[in-house]
Amino acid sequence: MPNFKPLVFSGVQPTGNLQLGNYLGAIQRWVALQNDYDCIYCVVDMHALTTNPLPEELAQHTREVAATFLAAGIDAQKHIVFNQSRVFQHAELAWVFNCIARIGWMKRMTQFKEKAGHDREQASLGLLAYPSLMSADILVYRATHVPVGGDQKQHLELARAIAQKFNNDYSRRISSLKIGIEIQCVKKTETVFFPIVEPLISTTSMRIMSLRDGRKKMSKSDPSDLSRINLVDTADDISRKIRKAKTDFAPLPETEKGLETRPEASNLIGIYAVLANMDKNTVLAEFGGKKFSDFKPALVELIVEKLGPIASELRRLKQDPSYIDCVLKEGAERASALAEKTMKHVRDIVGFS
Ligand code: TYM
Repeated sequence: MPNFKPLVFSGVQPTGNLQLGNYLGAIQRWVALQNDYDCIYCVVDMHALTTNPLPEELAQHTREVAATFLAAGIDAQKHIVFNQSRVFQHAELAWVFNCIARIGWMKRMTQFKEKAGHDREQASLGLLAYPSLMSADILVYRATHVPVGGDQKQHLELARAIAQKFNNDYSRRISSLKIGIEIQCVKKTETVFFPIVEPLISTTSMRIMSLRDGRKKMSKSDPSDLSRINLVDTADDISRKIRKAKTDFAPLPETEKGLETRPEASNLIGIYAVLANMDKNTVLAEFGGKKFSDFKPALVELIVEKLGPIASELRRLKQDPSYIDCVLKEGAERASALAEKTMKHVRDIVGFS
């Protein structure tokens, strides 16, 4: 039975310097997936427009994020790296999905509620429709696997709901045009056009939290630079930020259970665990009973060891913006060709002539 060809898609918004959460929650995994899948990695500049950036800054950040992908080890020759706004089919499919998705689905999104704040009537329509564009990013390539951090889980559930509703609403048309793919559902075979995407969220790196508040996620848009480790930070920056990271006064616990009510300790141990590729209990077997002043220097050393090579490669790549532009242009050409194949069918399915 024909099935969807496995394909990985993921994206990052160019809203500022990438931080440790982006790396551990997403990009580190992207690098690993390159060995087993065809991958498409996108700088989602159209999404970043929802934050009203200055035009010069948006263009600059787009290049910087693309350079970070390369510095972290993404192979732009074997896989595809590009920025979203160069491939108009994302916007075209997003419009079709705007007519599939329900307003209620969008209003329930935690990220919309957080970003829109108290006065939701004043939020942009783009912010509300954001998950519809995100679904289009993935489905315009009929991608099957999406590696993201835990904060994007809800958006991916919505992408699954949109794909399902599109497949149902147009099922007769998809079958009569003979462009569907047969998939095995619980007890029967169904002919569908869009795959039901599989989120790839690793439990260890689900959410990296702010260094100033263990209940808030680490974010490139947090006003306090001390709240995050940026991928461009120097060893001195990293050391200063970890030294100042909020902690409590008790020594580290012996087991993971003792971290349950200690969000800041849990976050720092979690960061160490993901970077060292260990579980938290193994880290605590070494540091349990010790003070933060003993643990923090070891954490600094590990972060510097892992991020140092990425930061220096990034500095090298930043010297050559025309190379990055070239990568993005070529990537967009290859992405466009794939996206157009899907859109030709979508236009047929919905009845555009
Ligand atoms: P963005 O730009 O906020 O983040 C990019 C990736 O980094 C992950 N991430 C984190 N993971 C763990 N802990 C954190 N503190 C942390 N902060 C960020 C995010 O989960 C994400 O994987 N909507 C998306 C971008 C997007 C997208 C897509 C992703 C647009 N279209 C299609 C996948 C597929 C976003 O705002 O990510």
